Amino acid sequence: MVAGDGFDRYRPSPVGEMLRDRPPMVRELPLFDPDLAPAEPGPLFVDWLVQAFEAGVLDPQVMTLSTVDADGVPDARALVLRDVDAAEGTWVFAGEADSPKGRQLALSPMAALSVYWPPLGRQVRVRGAVEAAPPGVSADEFRGRSPGAKVSSLVGRQSEPLGSLAAYDLAADEAQLLLETDPELVAAGHTVYTLRAAEVEFWQGDPGRRHVRLRYTRTGPGIGRAAWTSTLLWP
Ligand SMILES: Cc1cc2nc3c(=O)[nH]c(=O)nc-3n(C[C@H](O)[C@H](O)[C@H](O)COP(=O)(O)O)c2cc1C
Repeated sequence: MVAGDGFDRYRPSPVGEMLRDRPPMVRELPLFDPDLAPAEPGPLFVDWLVQAFEAGVLDPQVMTLSTVDADGVPDARALVLRDVDAAEGTWVFAGEADSPKGRQLALSPMAALSVYWPPLGRQVRVRGAVEAAPPGVSADEFRGRSPGAKVSSLVGRQSEPLGSLAAYDLAADEAQLLLETDPELVAAGHTVYTLRAAEVEFWQGDPGRRHVRLRYTRTGPGIGRAAWTSTLLWP
């Protein structure tokens, strides 16, 4: 046992020791000068995203989407960021309406998106209200997907218990056939979601723990620089 085993001491397990010996971000990291940051978070996010691609971060467009279920219990999963509207301050992702995340968003349309880009020691956290796009927009986005992505969406039943992998293969073959018969077919539940940021925090790690944190808060109804204030945060 580690902490809380009846002794007033913290005794890491071998796993805890392994982790203690491997602190994160022990490397040279970029400097972030908040005085040079733009007045709104969208352009800064796009800037950091481009730098993450350039730095060779694997899949920097994959973020963690956090939602809450009907009991207020948090849930989280990785998903692909589809787009960012830098002026509007909106982040776009897609998923199945009839999945746990889709049901959670229907019930409680607020979410957080977060990402950590290790080579740069950078984290970004985005929070706000989520809106499902009109069906026509989601269908249009679906038509532009790869055949494999279409098939897996058409199979549906995401996150339900699966009896065997063979059962999935069978369902995928059927979906493939349907798609070949009607290439315009759209998965009924496929949905594009837009998160309108109320808060965006940029976190630049520092090996000496002098992390720089800049939080943007949406203060006005408009778009662009007039709608945001920014605040430095203690690390
Ligand atoms: C790298 C990566 C990218 C993913 N992209 C998506 C995505 O864009 N949309 C999606 O619905 N699920 C995506 N997933 C799968 C989700 O993490 C999750 O397993 C699935 O959406 C079911 O989540 P739920 O049960 O909370 O609804 C991705 C997973 C990984 C690891």
